[in-house]
Amino acid sequence: MDNLDQLINEARTAFDAVADAAALEQAKARFLGKNGLITEQLKALGKLAPEEKRERGAAVNRAKTAIEQALEARREGLRQVALAAQLAAERLDVTLPGRGSALGGLHPVSRTLERIEQLFHSIGFVVADGPEIETDWHNFTALNVPPNHPARSMQDTFFLEGEKDVLLRTHTSPVQIRSLLAHVARYRDADPMPDLRLIAPGRVYRVDSDATHSPMFHQVEGLWVGEDVSFADLKGVVADFLRKFFETEQLQVRFRPSFFPFTEPSAEIDVAFMGGALEGRWLEVAGCGMVHPNVLRSGGIDPERYTGFAFGFGPDRLTMLRYGVDDLRLFFEGDLRFLAQFR
Ligand code: FA5
Ligand code: MG
Repeated sequence: MDNLDQLINEARTAFDAVADAAALEQAKARFLGKNGLITEQLKALGKLAPEEKRERGAAVNRAKTAIEQALEARREGLRQVALAAQLAAERLDVTLPGRGSALGGLHPVSRTLERIEQLFHSIGFVVADGPEIETDWHNFTALNVPPNHPARSMQDTFFLEGEKDVLLRTHTSPVQIRSLLAHVARYRDADPMPDLRLIAPGRVYRVDSDATHSPMFHQVEGLWVGEDVSFADLKGVVADFLRKFFETEQLQVRFRPSFFPFTEPSAEIDVAFMGGALEGRWLEVAGCGMVHPNVLRSGGIDPERYTGFAFGFGPDRLTMLRYGVDDLRLFFEGDLRFLAQFR
């Protein structure tokens, strides 16, 4: 092998060894550049005799062409590698499923509240509203809660800082007072005053927190005031509502004697399912009773002429029972893995 063949081999080896186009151009300079090895060979021709020059010149030119071809082949090879890398990096798999957009849904407690509103709307109850930041008078005094009652202590009620008469309402019962006052004002001249039938869903607050108690929870107040409204009406309305709400006749409803300052007589409402996982257990879902005469008076109503019943449901507990949820806090943690199950 003469030195030109060796040069060609060297060039091929050098070109193959480079990793990219920039390195290839540097390797090219070593052979074909102004001071490259092939250029040196061409310059050396001048020192040869004419006869030798022609032969040697042709050989050097063949070597130069061979090296140029090797260079071009390697350039093309590097272009292919770069293209393959780019294609791999930018690959789009059109067979992948689309990402889609996640569907939202109502919170389970909101579903319950909507359902309660629909059911009571169908028997002529309107939906009333009241502020969550209440006065002590509406939340306690007007509801016949005595000044020394434990609910009025800081351990049970969130008071507003520096305000001894303003608090976060501990139940929806103050809406009874606001609605009675508005109703009386509106029908001042009517005789008899038309019946007031309302429910008042909303948030309430207590200093309390465990698996079945949350510092913020929901209640739905109910109130029916008119001539001759009786405890039998209360039982009928509530039992009918509960069977419709749980969509079953296999439900026992119990009125357990109890005490609330704002009702007399008072009861807790318990339910028990016949069959299913909760079979045989009594579960408290509401407090209720006949509206106390002092409460009717606070609302501007004559208790000698009108009577009424009231109830306060815990819709969070109704939701737990309906869907079989065992920890109330799940409703308020905002965990999508839990909430998405109700979509
Ligand atoms: C009351 O709040 C009365 N205002 C209810 C009432 C209204 C009685 C009208 C008579 C007439 P009680 O504190 O028991 O009562 O609450 C009523 C319901 O709210 C309970 O039966 C329960 O279902 C729910 N509840 C009470 N405390 C919590 C809590 N911390 N977390 C979730 N639900 C609760
Ligand atoms: Mg209770």
